[in-house]
Amino acid sequence: MAKVVVVVTGGIAAYKSAALVSLLVKQAWDVRVVMTAAAQQMVGPATFAALSAKPVVTDMFDPAFPLGPHIELARWADVVVIAPATANWLAKAAHGLADDLASLLYVAFPGPTLVAPAMNSEMWQHISVQRNVRQLQADGVHFVGPDNGWQACRTSGEGRMSEPPEILEQLQRLSATR
Ligand SMILES: Cc1cc2nc3c(=O)[nH]c(=O)nc-3n(C[C@H](O)[C@H](O)[C@H](O)COP(=O)(O)O)c2cc1C
Repeated sequence: MAKVVVVVTGGIAAYKSAALVSLLVKQAWDVRVVMTAAAQQMVGPATFAALSAKPVVTDMFDPAFPLGPHIELARWADVVVIAPATANWLAKAAHGLADDLASLLYVAFPGPTLVAPAMNSEMWQHISVQRNVRQLQADGVHFVGPDNGWQACRTSGEGRMSEPPEILEQLQRLSATR
């Protein structure tokens, strides 16, 4: 059974990540979910806990993980996916910042990381976001999307998170290379 950590950061597309977790579980993946504080403003952890049948990890000082969840989850996982990945997460990862579990896990995990960015098209096109994406690609991070289409800000453009089946397909491809 392939093991994946789904890291949910604080974009509106967090609601689509619930469908991703459901799809993964149906395909017999073992799933742990990490959520940032902003992600928990978008969707409640109870949704992800029920779908994954495991407690959601939100705190890097969680007493359930004596070594720290970043170490224990990094050793456990075959692959990590950040979905949705905010502009903030991309910036932190591009610079190796590690001040919360979502960014710390990226630095602690030596295996394949898949990133599904999601943001308003102006944000996606911003020079700083594009610079961070180029840096992460150069660092060997895998990207899926973003797609073009209707956005929560009520305009169409590039920045929509890829649909869960597309993210699942990329995860299957990455885990097969392990
Ligand atoms: C209603 C609302 C929706 C947001 N949607 C997005 C989004 O889709 N993408 C994004 O990059 N940031 C979005 N943000 C901003 C992030 O939540 C914010 O930058 C936050 O600090 C991200 O923290 P995190 O990366 O730790 O989850 C949104 C903020 C609000 C208030």
